Amino acid sequence: MTSTPPPSGPRHFLDLADFDAATLRAILDQAVALKAALARGERPPLLADKVLAMIFERQSTRTRVSFDVGMRQLGGQTLMLTGAEMQLAREETLADTARVMSRYVDAIMIRIISHDDLLELAGAATIPVINGLTHRSHPCQVMADILTYEEHRGPIGNARVVWVGDANNVLASWVHAVKLFGGTLVISTPPEYGPDQALLADIESSGGAVTMVRDPVQAVDNADLVIADTWVSMGDTDADERRRVLRPYRVDQALMDKTAPRSLFMHCLPAHRGDEVVAEVIDGPRSVVFDEAENRLHVQKAILCWVFDVGFVGS
Ligand code: CP
Ligand code: NVA
Repeated sequence: MTSTPPPSGPRHFLDLADFDAATLRAILDQAVALKAALARGERPPLLADKVLAMIFERQSTRTRVSFDVGMRQLGGQTLMLTGAEMQLAREETLADTARVMSRYVDAIMIRIISHDDLLELAGAATIPVINGLTHRSHPCQVMADILTYEEHRGPIGNARVVWVGDANNVLASWVHAVKLFGGTLVISTPPEYGPDQALLADIESSGGAVTMVRDPVQAVDNADLVIADTWVSMGDTDADERRRVLRPYRVDQALMDKTAPRSLFMHCLPAHRGDEVVAEVIDGPRSVVFDEAENRLHVQKAILCWVFDVGFVGS
C-alpha cells in the first residue's frame, strides 16, 4: 500500500511496446525459473502480504484464474472485482478509482475494452497496473505464447510466425513482440478487418520483420507457427459480418499442410471450433494451445515479480 508514488513511478505492465527486449527476456527467464520451481513443488513466497486487485469489465477464464492462482502460489492475495459492482458503474472515473485503490492494495490487474480507460487508470495509480486485455492489446497472452514457442522449438527470433484472421488485440501484441525479440511475422487478414492506423504504423516501423500477405495459403508457406483467434473479440458488435468475411481465413488441415514440417498451432482461447479453426487442427498434434494456457500462469507470476521488483533471476 502506498499514498505517494515511488520516485521512479509504479512499474506498470501495459504494453510490450513500452519495454526493451532485455527486460522482457528477463521476465521470460523468471517465468522459466518459477515454472521449474513449481514442478519441484516449490512455491517461493516472493509476494507475501501483497494484495492484487483484479477488475474485470469483461468475461475471463484464463486471465482470472491464472492471476489468482499465481498470486496465491507466490504467497499473495487477490481481490476479484467487476466494474458492474463498483462505483465505476455509476460513473466514478477510472482516475478516482485508481487513486482510491492505490491507498488499499498493492497492484491492479484490469481487463477493460477501452485502452484509453486503461491508460487513465494507470496514469492516476500510484501502484503498478497490469493490462489483462484491452481491445487494443493483450501483452500477457503474447508473453505466454513466446514462452510456449521457445519451450517447443527454441528462440522465437528464428521463427516465421503467421497470423491468420482479423487484426485484433493479440495480433497487436505479437507485432510489438516481434519488433523486440526478432523473428518474422506475416499477417493475413481480409481488407475489411485489417490493421488500424496505429498498428499499421507499428508494422511499417518494423524494418520488414512484419509483413502483410492477403492470401492465407500464400501467407502460411513455410510457417513455423500459425496463430488464430476468435473472429469476434469482446467489444466487437458485427459478429455475423465478421463470420461471413473471415470464412476464407479458417485454419484447417489443408492450410496447415502448407506450413513447415514441424510447425505449431496456437490460439489464445476461448476457441470456436468450426469458425476460426477446425477441431482437427486445434485438437491435433501440432496444437500447443493448452501449454499456451498453462504458461499464462508462469509468465504472469514473473510479470507480478517484475512489477513488484522482487525475485529476479540474474539481478
Ligand atoms: N486468453 C485469454 O485471455 O483467456 P480469458 O479470456 O479466458 O482470460
Ligand atoms: N481477441 C480476443 C481474445 C480473448 C482472450 C478478444 O479480445 O475477445
